[in-house]
Amino acid sequence: MCGIVGYIGYREAYPILIKGLYRLEYRGYDSAGIALPNRQNELNVYKVKGRVSDLDEFCKNKDVSGTIGIAHTRWATHGEPSNNNAHPHYSQSETLALIHNGIIENYATLKEQLIRNGYTFQSSTDTEVLVQLIEYMKILNKTDLCTAVQMALNQVVGAYAIAVVEENNPDLIIAARKSSPLVLGIGEKETFVASDASPIIEYTNRVIYLEDEDIAVIKRNAPVKFVTIGNVEKTHEIIKLEMSLSQLEKGGYPHFMLKEIFEQPRTLRDCMRGRVNVDCNNVILSGILDNRERFFNARRILILACGTSWHAGLVGEYLFEELCRIPVEVEYSSEFRYRHPVIFPDDIVITISQSGETADTLAAIDLVRKAGAFVYGLCNVVGSSIPRNTDSGSYTHVGPEIGVASTKAFTAQLMVLSMMALCIGREKKTIPEPRFIELLQELNSIPDKVEQILKTNDKIKELSNIFTYAHNFIYLGRGYSYPVALEGALKLKEISYIHAEGYPAAEMKHGPIALIDNEMPVVAIATNNGTYEKVISNIQEIKARNGRVIAVVSQDDTTVKNIADYVIEIPSTEECFDPILAIIPLQLLSYHIAVNKKRNVDMPRNLAKSVTVE
Ligand code: G6P
Repeated sequence: MCGIVGYIGYREAYPILIKGLYRLEYRGYDSAGIALPNRQNELNVYKVKGRVSDLDEFCKNKDVSGTIGIAHTRWATHGEPSNNNAHPHYSQSETLALIHNGIIENYATLKEQLIRNGYTFQSSTDTEVLVQLIEYMKILNKTDLCTAVQMALNQVVGAYAIAVVEENNPDLIIAARKSSPLVLGIGEKETFVASDASPIIEYTNRVIYLEDEDIAVIKRNAPVKFVTIGNVEKTHEIIKLEMSLSQLEKGGYPHFMLKEIFEQPRTLRDCMRGRVNVDCNNVILSGILDNRERFFNARRILILACGTSWHAGLVGEYLFEELCRIPVEVEYSSEFRYRHPVIFPDDIVITISQSGETADTLAAIDLVRKAGAFVYGLCNVVGSSIPRNTDSGSYTHVGPEIGVASTKAFTAQLMVLSMMALCIGREKKTIPEPRFIELLQELNSIPDKVEQILKTNDKIKELSNIFTYAHNFIYLGRGYSYPVALEGALKLKEISYIHAEGYPAAEMKHGPIALIDNEMPVVAIATNNGTYEKVISNIQEIKARNGRVIAVVSQDDTTVKNIADYVIEIPSTEECFDPILAIIPLQLLSYHIAVNKKRNVDMPRNLAKSVTVE
């Protein structure tokens, strides 16, 4: 939530910062702003409600000169999206400007103190309180900017990634983080700071991830210095990132979401690479095999996640219970942490997160680690906070996912969970060897089958034209297909703003059936697996009430074709891998409906890709 970018070096800062904001826009996009200290001892701040393109337009006739600056794209927490609430925020004397991602929880108390000391406020944000506090500390203690930031941050409760610049000092950026991500790009005679590496990668692949309570003193033509808010000097290792610029571009597709849907055959192969070996019938996940005792003696698996990752977790529950015979509970991180969960030291906790930065999941990890459980992180973003706070884990390796609605990360999460279940099940001998070989061979064929499904895109597009103006949708599935129904409904809601509900097909009789009429499209996942006959009965019940049914069926299906109004065929597979295939047409259906409705597919209203606030 919120994107931060900063630059200091020998090039003009403005174009770098604007481009960086475009790359970070997926993190929030209700307002944007920029602060540029220049050699004339001015500190220019420009900010507007709206998109980065609105900011760029606004700056057309402004003085944007200078080789240092900070910029921000916002996802509102405190205070509505407006010009005043946009970042950067000036301090009272307008000599400091600050950008912030996170939440200052005790902002009200701090604000009262500042008001008592003569400070006035232009915005209703928590961020303005922080910049005023820094200025107050600077004046009160007659100290430099870094020490003032340290003093202020010691009074703050909450989460922050910040960057501050000051007038009369076009050679310095101070950056700091706690519970919100911040990464530095180390170039030749230039340094970048950003919420993630996407604005940096074009210029350098040498990065440093800041840790909680770190402050970075970024001076022109000097190595970056690190100190904690407790004033302990630190050093950090430079990491070389393997990310390419083409991964951050649309590559000819009209939207990142479509590009990412079509990338799935490749991303699934990348996810399996070096892990699945069909020639020697092996699946190797070092994160599990290095900790085999913990996994094989696990009393229970707890899966914690949010959003789409939580849906992947539900599929994980079916996989681990079926193939490994370990009891599983799947929890929303946000709910789990605020009740009084029973956590055993011999629990395995699997946390799933595309971004690796979701605040609730990070907080839940703290809780379970304190209780002594073993935490396994399943993440996409390399070097993000979750993998750095877990005992072991696996990356999904799908490259940057930029569309706010998750697609390729979801299918790769399912792939990793499938590999985990196979790996544990084989070692525990809960999967007999011949069955293991069958499953492994089938898993290996999944990317090709995804490729086949993508060829039906035109047909799905036609189907979307029929349903674009529906006001409500129901998605039904049973067993492994139930989480797919939830995810299909979420995809539609997120990007088309059509109300959609996912439901276990049999539960429909206990409520949603009352909604069925010929205005209500029902998407039923009716692939040829264990609950096929039962789902057919559920479809009959809908048809008997004039409902309109779009069914996702297996290629060899004959029965559902005669009952449903429309069918989308997918290749047959093992039931436990069905979700990886069944979700693909549902991703495409939501995509085309949203495009028909002229929605901003990659940046749907009110959403953000990375939810770094609770
Ligand atoms: C946001 C995103 C979703 C994502 C969820 C969890 O809501 O828009 O796409 O599923 O956060 O994020 P995570 O990064 O933890 O998977």
